[in-house]
Amino acid sequence: MTSPTAQSLSAIDQQKKRAADYAVAKVETGMKVGLGTGSTARFAVAALGERVRKEGLKVKCIPTSEATRKQAEEEGIAVVGFDQIDRLDLCFDGADEADPKLNLTKGGGGALLREKVVAFTSAKFYCIVDEAKLVDKLYAFPLPLEVIPFALKVVEREVAALGGQGTLRQKEGKTYVTDNGLWILDCRFPPIEDPPLLAKAFASIPGIAEHGLFCGMVYELVVGTNEGIKVLKPQS
Ligand code: A5P
Repeated sequence: MTSPTAQSLSAIDQQKKRAADYAVAKVETGMKVGLGTGSTARFAVAALGERVRKEGLKVKCIPTSEATRKQAEEEGIAVVGFDQIDRLDLCFDGADEADPKLNLTKGGGGALLREKVVAFTSAKFYCIVDEAKLVDKLYAFPLPLEVIPFALKVVEREVAALGGQGTLRQKEGKTYVTDNGLWILDCRFPPIEDPPLLAKAFASIPGIAEHGLFCGMVYELVVGTNEGIKVLKPQS
């Protein structure tokens, strides 16, 4: 598979591809790389595959979902697991929303748990987004929680106590099952004033395998625009 040409893409896809191309340009031979999930990460995996084939770039990659694993293998990218490597040099992945402090909502594609493990083990997490993902407060995109089925009702009640309302994700009329065999509870909250505080609350609820708030993890937020890219760094 080859990368689509810029002309054949919608404006939003061009933004995604610009952000993806920036992140993929950071990859050097010998690096260990985490591969994100979603439509933006898909552009990046395609661009990385192109570099592997054309430049002979040597990389070892850990995908964040079975869908990305399949794409990477089709691209001829070497896929490994955490049994073979411990730390990643960088990873690239999309987001559903990003606030001015570079807190993220992720998990729209249901891969949040592996995405967080990969971001956690990466020296640099390049978050690649189109402009529509930038928000003042995380809010409009329901916050996904990856939940152990046994604990669903417990988690729903705890989410309600925190002021949210969870809806079990469905796909084609059935409960959506993640790559980890778990369920997703998509939670509506009022605009999130303090994402790290909410993240802490989720971490204390048993039965939540992982939550979709990514706080303090981004190395660079790469925003594709109609003109080019904007690169935002966390303020210290
Ligand atoms: C996958 O589980 C998500 O976290 C994605 O990274 C997120 O949904 C962004 O996807 P798009 O790049 O398709 O918008």
